[in-house]
Amino acid sequence: MLRKIEAKVLIVDDLPENLLALRSLIQSEDRTVFQASSADEALSLLLEHEFALAILDVKMPGMNGFELAELMRGTEKTKHIPIIFVSAVGRDMDYAFRGYESGAVDFLHKPLSPFEVRSKVAMFVELYRHRKALSMQLEMVEAARREQEALLGELRETQGELQKAVQMRDVFMSIASHELRTPLNGLILDVQLRRLRLEQGRMDAFTPDKLQEMVARDERQIRSLSRLIDDMLDVSRIRTGKLSVRPEPGDLGVLAGSVVESLAAQFTNAGSHVELYVDGPAPVMMDEFRIEQVLANLLTNALRYGGGKPVSVRVRVVDDMVRAEVRDQGLGISEADQRRVFEQFERVCGTSVAQGLGLGLFISEQIVEAHDGRIELSSRLGEGSCFSILLPLRS
Ligand SMILES: Nc1ncnc2c1ncn2[C@@H]1O[C@H](COP(=O)(O)OP(=O)(O)OP(=O)(O)O)[C@@H](O)[C@H]1O
Ligand SMILES: [Mg+2]
Repeated sequence: MLRKIEAKVLIVDDLPENLLALRSLIQSEDRTVFQASSADEALSLLLEHEFALAILDVKMPGMNGFELAELMRGTEKTKHIPIIFVSAVGRDMDYAFRGYESGAVDFLHKPLSPFEVRSKVAMFVELYRHRKALSMQLEMVEAARREQEALLGELRETQGELQKAVQMRDVFMSIASHELRTPLNGLILDVQLRRLRLEQGRMDAFTPDKLQEMVARDERQIRSLSRLIDDMLDVSRIRTGKLSVRPEPGDLGVLAGSVVESLAAQFTNAGSHVELYVDGPAPVMMDEFRIEQVLANLLTNALRYGGGKPVSVRVRVVDDMVRAEVRDQGLGISEADQRRVFEQFERVCGTSVAQGLGLGLFISEQIVEAHDGRIELSSRLGEGSCFSILLPLRS
């Protein structure tokens, strides 16, 4: 590995014959020798290349070897390059090189001893290669450490998601079984009561009037059961990305009208009232079955959490969107809870009114987004809520 590391050596001397002599001494296969005949030329090479060693003639016209060395020590890129000064014996030594403490420095004296030159250069080149190999290894270790850290982070994230999924499943199971129990218990109790009456021969419990009442009650419980099951199925479809919508041309105002009509009796029974305003045609592309589900959920919520006060539905075109607003004058939703109510199983604490699974808004938002639309909520605690469905206007 060491041999493969490229080593560049710079020789600087103002006399061409000296450069030639030095080059022939230190030239070898495993290194590249660069030469410069002045300090200026040397500096430009130093900035361009990474050198393992610089051999500087001390005595040069213009900037001498020591001055060049001082400049090198003052520059980040060149400050750690080892330097060998070449000087005539007995002369030049009165020059003081002040930067030597910050890097390796050695001396060669003229006339040059070939053996000394070769062994010194070989030693510095070898040192350079070792240092280079070490820093490459350090880089590799650091990269491996970073990779490990990233993997660990991913692992932690996955673990967190897994824990959340398990927690979610537990919440789902407990809420779902509790919510399914309510209508089921009603049905079971009714059936037991009827069996008892039959066993007692009390046929007066089965007059046409009473039978009609029973059937209506049964129907309500069964509808509520099947709605809960549908919602759970929708959630599982959303989770597996299989909630499909089949949009066809339709009119949101017309659809809102039929949803309001079908729920009007429920509003009246609860002592409330729902008003519809449609400002002209509202053409959209929609899966009517799914958008009806969204409108029904918003209206049921307005009935449940609307405090018995009137609810209004308004459909109109705003810019390039069709907007259906369901506005109530009930409890309202605090700003802090406004994002949370769109999450699965999220119900705002303190709403003592009969509640569902907390899935309606989650499913509704997914359905509307599958239509390239969005749901907006504007509400203040105690001042009612306004949920709006926005779907792209069909041109
Ligand atoms: N119009 C509203 N006014 C006040 N709070 C609301 C209103 N609509 C929804 N919420 C709050 O948001 C929560 C989530 O609503 P969402 O429709 O998702 O669930 P849910 O109605 O409780 O149950 P589900 O729709 O599954 O039967 C509700 O439990 C309620 O706390
Ligand atoms: Mg709901």
